[in-house]
Amino acid sequence: MINRRYYGQFGGAFLPEILVATFDELVSAFEEAKNDPSFWQEYEKVMSTYSCRPTPITFAENLTKLFGGARIYIKREDLNHTGAHKANNVMGQGLLVKRMGKTRVIAETGAGQHGVATATMAAKFGFKCTIYKGEVEVWRQRPNVFWMERLGAEVIPVKEGTRILKDAINESFRDWVTNMDDTHYVLGTACGPHPFPEMVTYLQSIIGKEARRQILEIEDRLPSRVYACVGGGSNALGIFSGFLDDPVELVGVEAGGDGLETGRHASRLASKDASVGVAQGYKTCFLQNSDGQMKETHSVAAGLDYVGVSPILASLKEEGRVRFESATDKEVLDATDLTIKKEGLIPALESAHAFSQAFKEAPGLSIEDIILINQSGRGDKDIFTIADAFADPKWMEFIQKKAEEYRA
Ligand SMILES: Cc1ncc(COP(=O)(O)O)c(C=O)c1O
Repeated sequence: MINRRYYGQFGGAFLPEILVATFDELVSAFEEAKNDPSFWQEYEKVMSTYSCRPTPITFAENLTKLFGGARIYIKREDLNHTGAHKANNVMGQGLLVKRMGKTRVIAETGAGQHGVATATMAAKFGFKCTIYKGEVEVWRQRPNVFWMERLGAEVIPVKEGTRILKDAINESFRDWVTNMDDTHYVLGTACGPHPFPEMVTYLQSIIGKEARRQILEIEDRLPSRVYACVGGGSNALGIFSGFLDDPVELVGVEAGGDGLETGRHASRLASKDASVGVAQGYKTCFLQNSDGQMKETHSVAAGLDYVGVSPILASLKEEGRVRFESATDKEVLDATDLTIKKEGLIPALESAHAFSQAFKEAPGLSIEDIILINQSGRGDKDIFTIADAFADPKWMEFIQKKAEEYRA
């Protein structure tokens, strides 16, 4: 019988009858792995030999000088293999799939980082792989789709609903129901039915464990604040979990899109627009209408454009342990530009939400304060969006010439 874990009033596992045995099997495999010290050792070994862990923390000297307030450090999850924290979750679930003896993996993906990470893991471990991605996001994030396919995965554009991340999750569950004997669904964030929120947080906690140790080694004290962007919540929970028991303020930054007042955003916890509901197998705060129909969301960052949020984060908000803010698309693009120019770092547009909020707050803190920003991923995948936002004429000319070359 599934342990239907709740976090305050949030979480649980609301499953169709047909998936109950599959979830039971997953809960048992996860519990067994968690209690077996060799699992974490194997996990750390894979992550250090294949994915550059431990990732460093970088002192952002120029930004610190510019804002003249807190000392700014950046946790470099962008240095993971495949360019984001998604690798932490995926490689861990890959090890579990091996333990369960399954041979095929499926995944949903928004920005595409989770899809690329899953396709990479499947190539390394020899699994068959299918990725579901909303049709809108296939168009927005073509370079990642290109790599998923080169890595041998089948990428299925989802044409249902609003054709974004939530629809890709629905399709993944549909596939799993028909193929559960040989297939594992590698859910990409700390959402969905138990054990996913706990399991993904457990695997991502490697970020917070390292970051806490590293900041103590460098500064001999803890940060005053830790910032992370929040899509489903996995990179935020990963870094926050290292500081939950410390007197450190934790700040989650959601997608403010065109501004909370416009309704075109994806802020579940920082806005007043979400309400508690059950969907996609779990209970959390969803952006939904009074009939429980999911609303359309918007963000410049495909990976933050999701209607629900981790039940663990929803509960941490209710407890007052995590503060939630939002950053608009415009603020995020400005923060990306500034970080590139001042530090030579190219944050993913998702990560730049955390940078934007930290930049708003850094000047109000003192030089005695340390702030730590999680750079959840690198921004190479966002080249088309960023080029469009800044109307880069040389890039446009290049694309036009390339198109003419293909037409010829
Ligand atoms: C680089 C990056 N950061 C953050 C996210 C948001 O996911 P989560 O909230 O689970 O960390 C994504 C999702 O695709 C991503 O690609």
